[in-house]
Formats: sequence, C-alpha cells, structure tokens
Amino acid sequence: MVKLDYERLKAIRLEQDITQKELAQSTGVSLSTIKQIETGRSSTDLENIQKLCTYLDVDINEIYHPDYHDTKVLCMLNNKGGCGKTSLCGGIATSMAELGLRILVIDGDGQRNLSSSFDMPRSEKNFGAAVLAEQDLNGYIQPTKFENIDIIVADVSMGTLDMALFTKISRENIVRSILRPVVERGYYDYILIDTNPNLSLLNFNIVNASNYVLIPAQPASFDLDGLAVVLQFVDGIKPYNPTLQVGGIIINRYDARNRLITEAAMDQLRESYSALLFEQIIRVDSRLQNAQWENRPVLDYAGSARISKEYRALTKEILKRCV
Ligand SMILES: Nc1ncnc2c1ncn2[C@@H]1O[C@H](COP(=O)(O)OP(=O)(O)OP(=O)(O)O)[C@@H](O)[C@H]1O
Ligand SMILES: [Mg+2]
Repeated sequence: MVKLDYERLKAIRLEQDITQKELAQSTGVSLSTIKQIETGRSSTDLENIQKLCTYLDVDINEIYHPDYHDTKVLCMLNNKGGCGKTSLCGGIATSMAELGLRILVIDGDGQRNLSSSFDMPRSEKNFGAAVLAEQDLNGYIQPTKFENIDIIVADVSMGTLDMALFTKISRENIVRSILRPVVERGYYDYILIDTNPNLSLLNFNIVNASNYVLIPAQPASFDLDGLAVVLQFVDGIKPYNPTLQVGGIIINRYDARNRLITEAAMDQLRESYSALLFEQIIRVDSRLQNAQWENRPVLDYAGSARISKEYRALTKEILKRCV
C-alpha cells in the first residue's frame, strides 16, 4: 500500500483516453500539478487530488490512504562502545514522538540498555527470538508507557546471535525481510534501531534493512580513528542496499571543560567530514544519567534540561535530512 496510488490514478486517466492537458483544462488543476501528482511528487495535495477524482469518477478512498505513513528506517551505528548510540536513539525517538510522529524503536543490542531506558522487562517476544525464527516483526511489537512509541525489546541471549546467523541461508537479509511487513504496514513514521558496539553480522543485517545510518561520535581521538572504519562498513553494505545513505555524524558528549582536546578533535572532524556533521552538538549533561538510573527517557525525566533541548534541535535536523 502507498499513501497515494498515483500510478493507478494515471492508469484510470489513460483508460478514459484523456490527456494530462485535457484533464487540466477540464478540472482547473494546472498541468504541472497534474504531472507532479501522477509521478508521486505531490501526494498530499488533497484538494487537487479530489478534483481529479471527481472528474475521472473515482472514489478517492480507492487511491488515497491518508493514514498511511511512509515509514523510514534509521539505525544508530558505531562499533566504539559508549559513544552514545543508545542514549541518542532514545532521545531522538522521544523528540519525534513529542512532535506527534509514530515511532517504533528496536533494541538491537543484547545489553538491553534501550529496552531498560523505556522501562521494558525481559520478554520472550524479543528481537533476537524474531531473528532466529525469521518471523514477521509485527508479532514482536509491544507498547511502551510513552505516547506514540512502541518497542521491540532486546534480550541478553542475543549475545550469541551472530553465531546462529552464520549458518542461515541469505544471512545478510534476514532483518530486512522480517522488518519489511512492518514497513509495508505504513503505521510508523520512523523505525529507529539501536545496535551493539560491533561491526557484526547482526549489525550488517540492521544496516541492510535501513534507509539511513546515524553515526554518533565523541570528539576524542580514539573515536575519530574509528569513524573511517564505520563509514567503510556502511559502504560495503551499499551493494546490498543501494538506497542506503549515511544520515550524518552526531557529535555527542561534547565536553567544554576539556576545550583544548575537544576543539582539536572538532577541527579534525570538520576537516574530514564537514558535509556529514549535524550542526546540533550534544553536550555532556549529567541529567541524562539520572534519567537512565530511573529507567526513563530524559525528555520525560527532565523535559526542559539542556540535553533535552539539544535532542529536540538535533531531531529537527534529522527530520529534514532523513526523508
Ligand atoms: N551527552 C551525554 N552526556 C552525559 N552522559 C552521556 C551523554 N551521552 C551518553 N552518555 C552516557 O555515556 C554512557 C554511554 O552512553 P550510551 O549507552 O548511549 O552509549 P552506546 O554507544 O549505546 O554504548 P554501547 O556501545 O555500550 O552500546 C551512558 O552512561 C550514558 O548515560
Ligand atoms: Mg548502547
């Protein structure tokens, strides 16, 4: 299903032997608008879509599904442990949900940090179980306490998932194929997947199932060294997933107290990756750890804290880039 079945609309016009120009003259909708609608570039221009439907005698409900969401899949990736994948995943998800977007978060890390931050207990219905059984992920979704956010939790047993994946046929495509029914359902605006700190087969699967990769990095020397390897890993997956894009690099845990090192690292980042860097930087903020201690997203724990505001601003940038 799609929001506007523009190909069907065009087919109906052609069946009735009407040219785009004739349709424009008869309906008062401009020729360029009709061209845009028929190629799917103007799928929300409801007033004009209705005019075309009336003229072509089609029920608009046949071709237009207002509740359909064009679901985008974003994953957090960096094999450097502790750079902020999980915290950012939670922060971005809650910021998106605040804006009224429907979000599914998937915890792809057996450490279960993302599941815990949404206060979710262990469950048989976890991501690892779905991957092992190669089952439609729709059956593994659980609601969280937070409005607009559903989750597929992780389980500690996922530590050995890579070994199990290794013997499977088409092992690089498993997550993509079990996630596809969720994407095609069109219920969510965004699916955000947290990953484990490895460049593992499971993470290969997750990136292969994603539209965009977000890469958190700390402005510190060890983190910079690893970035090229992460980007290479993503490049290696593009032949399997040609529409895959790096959404950008997120600077996290910027520490102004250590300005000399931090700024030197920032200079290097700007020099090597300026096009990929998000403008909004996330600074060190202890409120985040307090929130995580209480198993709550920081936007829920301290909505007006500096870090919450930074997450919101970052999310606005992500929404512009990852469309
Ligand atoms: N901006 C920040 N300010 C303060 N603390 C932060 C910030 N971002 C992350 N942290 C803290 O750093 C630690 C690691 O963060 P997080 O768990 O998000 O990283 P990760 O990349 O998911 O780690 P892993 O690789 O182990 O999965 C956590 O204790 C978290 O609270
Ligand atoms: Mg993590």
